[in-house]
Formats: sequence, C-alpha cells, structure tokens
Amino acid sequence: MAVLNSEVIRFTLLLSLCMACLCHKENLQERLFLSSLGLTSRPKPAAQFPVPSLLWKIFKGTKMPEFSAQDNDPCTVSEFGVRGNIVRFVQDQGRILSVSSDLCPGCVEKLLFFNVSALETAEQLTFAQLEIRLQQDFHPLSPRAREQEVYSMSLWKVLKATLKGISPEMTRKLLLSQSIRLTPGSIALSLTDVVKAWRKPGRNYGLVLALRPDATAAAATRLAQNVVSPHHVGAAFPEFHASLPDFRASLVVVSLNPLQCRSRRRRSALYLPVTPSNVCKPRRLYIDFKDVGWQDWIIAPQGYMANYCHGECPFPLSESLNGTNHAILQTLVHSLDSVGTPQPCCVPIKLSPISMLYYDNNDNVVLRHYEDMIVDECGCR
Ligand SMILES: *[C@@H]1O[C@H](CO)[C@@H](O)[C@H](O)[C@H]1NC(C)=O
Ligand SMILES: *[C@@H]1O[C@H](CO)[C@@H](O)[C@H](O)[C@H]1NC(C)=O
Repeated sequence: MAVLNSEVIRFTLLLSLCMACLCHKENLQERLFLSSLGLTSRPKPAAQFPVPSLLWKIFKGTKMPEFSAQDNDPCTVSEFGVRGNIVRFVQDQGRILSVSSDLCPGCVEKLLFFNVSALETAEQLTFAQLEIRLQQDFHPLSPRAREQEVYSMSLWKVLKATLKGISPEMTRKLLLSQSIRLTPGSIALSLTDVVKAWRKPGRNYGLVLALRPDATAAAATRLAQNVVSPHHVGAAFPEFHASLPDFRASLVVVSLNPLQCRSRRRRSALYLPVTPSNVCKPRRLYIDFKDVGWQDWIIAPQGYMANYCHGECPFPLSESLNGTNHAILQTLVHSLDSVGTPQPCCVPIKLSPISMLYYDNNDNVVLRHYEDMIVDECGCR
C-alpha cells in the first residue's frame, strides 16, 4: 500500500510547506515589494509635485476594465499608442545657465536634465516626450501685451561635457528652433531616440533650452502698440526686456517591462460572496496603504480590494478546490496520518493586476501597471 512509502512522501511534502504563512519578516517583505517597483527604499517625496492631468487620465482609464475590450492588452498605453506598462513623469533637475545679460536682454538659457537611471535594464523604452510648459507669472505688463511678445525658442542636445573657452555650439546638436508666444500652454516634442541614447552610462548631458526675444517680431509689436496708443511711445521698450519667460520642463517616459506583463485579460473587481464556509476560498481583504504607512508616496489608489486565500483543503479534495495531483495525494496521506503530514495549503492560483500611481526615489511621478496584486481564485497546493 501507499502507506509504505509515506515516509518518502512526507519528506517531499514537508519541503513544499506553506511558506507564505510563515514569513513575518516585514522589512524583507517591504524591500522585496519596493524592489519589484524599481525602488531602492521607501520613497520620501520632498516636494509633492502635482500629478500631471494626463497621468490621472491614464490611471482612471486603467481602472475601468469593463469599459475596455475584455481581451485588451493591459500593456498598452493607448494615450500614446505604444506598448508599455510603466509611465514615468520625470522632473527636470537642470539649472539656469544664463539670464538676461547686456548682450542678450530678456534671454534665458537653461540646462534641462532628466535622470532616467531609474529605468531598469529589463525595461524597453517605447516613448519619450518632452513637455515645456509656459507659466503665467506676475508680470508688470498686461496679459494682452505679454501675449504679443514673440520669442524664439531653441533646444539643443548636449553631446559632451563642455570646458570653459570652448564654444558650446561645438558640443550641441540643435533639435528644435521655433517662434513662440508667451501664452500659457505647452510645447511637446518627441524625444524617444534621444532618451534611449541617454540610458547608456555617461551619455546623458541633458538639453539646453534657450528663449530669446525675437527682435524683428518685437519691433513689429512695438510699432503696432504705438499705432494704437501714441502716448505710450517708448514705454513698451524697457518693459519688454524686463520680462523673463517662466517655464517648466518635464519628460514623459513610457517603458515596457516584459517580465511584469503577462498579456492576459484583466478582471473587474471581484465581489466575493459572503457565504460562511471554512473551505479554501478567496476572502475579502481591503488593503489601505495608510495602514502600512505608504500613503505619503503612493498617490493612488489609497487602497484596494486585495483579498486573500483561507480555508481548509479537506479530504477528498473536490474539483472546485483546484488541487494539483500532488495536493490530492497530500490530502490522502493527511487523512491517514494527520499528525505527521499537514493538509495542503490554500493559496492564490489566479491573481490580477492593478495600476499604481506613486513617487519614486527621485520624486518623479510614476504610473505602473503592476501584476499579481488581487487574488481572484484560490486552490489547494
Ligand atoms: C540619478 O538617480 C540615481 C538614483 O535613481 C542616482 O543614484 C544618481 O546619482 C542620479 N544621477 C544624477 C546625475 O543625478
Ligand atoms: C477554482 O477555479 C475555478 C475556475 O477555474 C473558480 O471558479 C473557483 O472559484 C476556484 N476555486 C477556488 C477555491 O477559488
């Protein structure tokens, strides 16, 4: 009879004990979770940058699976029409290079630097877009006069470190040059190839953005103003140079981590029936990120229905308990020797993803499609 081999079977079974239930090393667990999000430690966002409305839109879109096609690829960012499961909003860490000198009144030159080292090696970058947002600021000129100011905007990619005395033009490559008006709004520029190159070590020297008043357009503006109100002659000239454009740059980067993207359909939130039973099945569990002290870096959701598996795996193991052949044998041995061999464990066998919006270790806002966060089905293993 099989009992003869029970010692052998027991030995094998003990190796596959319910390990999940035994692990209470919170720090280790937290570290593992954080590292799977690409984080070295729990982020402590210094300044809570506002979440760009576009990210909110994508986040809200991912939360409505019943409105998207059932077999929708969860690893597509439809807003940009590219594959990806991570959207990062990278903050500019550059510095002002020069402002409004005698040579160039009203001019601003700024280094834009985006640290893209948070992208892991496994991630495939599929999309990058620079956004330059012109801000409304406090300004002596009336908004109308301001809107008439025409600036010429130039954007260069810095190719290598520049030493003093070497003409910076030698080490820059012009990416864009256009005329803009200082009205609040934004300018977007695709930078996918540039950012791909930045990922190689020692290749990211940033961008240089220069804004300078467009002399010919300025003259035309002054002429127009003079025609409208002759008694303001001359007044517009010094004021024009008193204004400095105020802008903020950010970089949206979409990447795909294929290891965290098993293409399968998402399920809508599972509403579990509350039937009293002690047989293995999913149980309701709402995880509130406040309870684990993560509310300061996880922006959304504030919590979610994670569920958990709990219950007995009794002999004989019925089909609905989704047992493996191994589990069926284990319950059999358990029924013969309940002290020496435990019941199989009730564990998650099907999980579904959620999307999370959080600050990373560099204060960037990240939207990430994250696998295996919700228990859908349990089984005896
Ligand atoms: C970029 O960020 C990483 C951490 O993600 C940091 O180690 C590194 O020093 C940063 N690089 C620069 C140039 O700021
Ligand atoms: C076993 O799987 C089926 C579908 O494959 C599911 O309906 C059932 O709820 C699962 N059993 C448990 C205990 O989760």
